[in-house]
Amino acid sequence: MEVLRSPNMAREALFPQIMRGRSVGLVPTMGALHDGHMAIVRTSVMENDLTVASIFVNPTQFGPGEDLDKYPRDLDGDISKLREAGVDILFMPSAADMYGEGASTFVDVGPISARLCGAFRPTHFRGVATVVTKLFNIIRPARAYFGQKDYQQLLVIRKVARELNMPVDVVMCPTVRENDGVAMSSRNAYLSAEERRAAPVLYRALSSAAEVLMGAKASPQEATGMMEDMLKAEPLIEDVQYIGCFDPDSLAELEEFTGGALLAGAIIIGPTRLIDNVLLTS
Ligand code: PAJ
Repeated sequence: MEVLRSPNMAREALFPQIMRGRSVGLVPTMGALHDGHMAIVRTSVMENDLTVASIFVNPTQFGPGEDLDKYPRDLDGDISKLREAGVDILFMPSAADMYGEGASTFVDVGPISARLCGAFRPTHFRGVATVVTKLFNIIRPARAYFGQKDYQQLLVIRKVARELNMPVDVVMCPTVRENDGVAMSSRNAYLSAEERRAAPVLYRALSSAAEVLMGAKASPQEATGMMEDMLKAEPLIEDVQYIGCFDPDSLAELEEFTGGALLAGAIIIGPTRLIDNVLLTS
């Protein structure tokens, strides 16, 4: 596995490969890799001639007071996991490599990025859309892989790729969970033992709501009320930022369930923000 830090070197390394018609798969990450990341990496390795993984803790997607400075890092562990999984190139730029001094161009996707997580992290998706656009332009992948765990992020990136005519197939990979249902996340490392024991309530609430919706036993509004009650009953949850049933394309609140729904929530446990979702498709 080649480790490349500069955008120009990465472009130059990939250009001859792409010209030879070899397909490139890209897996963007912020590092501290867990089995959720690695499942995505393995999918890309299977589906492409070459796989590029990137590790970049992107400053523009963190708001003031968020965890940019203490975001977990495990570079040695990450490198050996990626090597073992058969990744060809690890792209690992510095913030200065990615954003030159005075950089002021952003990709703004509009209303979809103001809903759900966007209501609490107003500049987050603009930062994500910008850095992923840059990664697509540098690496020029045929396919790029993202996790369902960050469903809104995936919608935003699909919209950017479609509306800016980027020739890349944005692939969604299923959420990988711990045995108790908690979605794997680099941020789970912030949880104390007690908080970690409380964390499964989010996925339990989403799964119960999915069951009653699919069984036509409740309306989206009733299912949302049920999730709210379950979360309220957990004293370690300091705040429920949002929980509900949403349209999987527009992310507007779902009025009526006709087979498609995104059940999604964001909660604060101790100092940690956790998100999760369950997707129902007709
Ligand atoms: P990061 O949180 O490191 O996640 C990298 C990729 O792994 C994302 O596509 C995310 O959805 C996926 N992922 C994380 N946990 C997962 C899980 N438990 N199961 C399946 N997939 C999971 O998301 C980002 O980084 C950044 O916003 C990035 C896209 C790299 C842009 O900076």
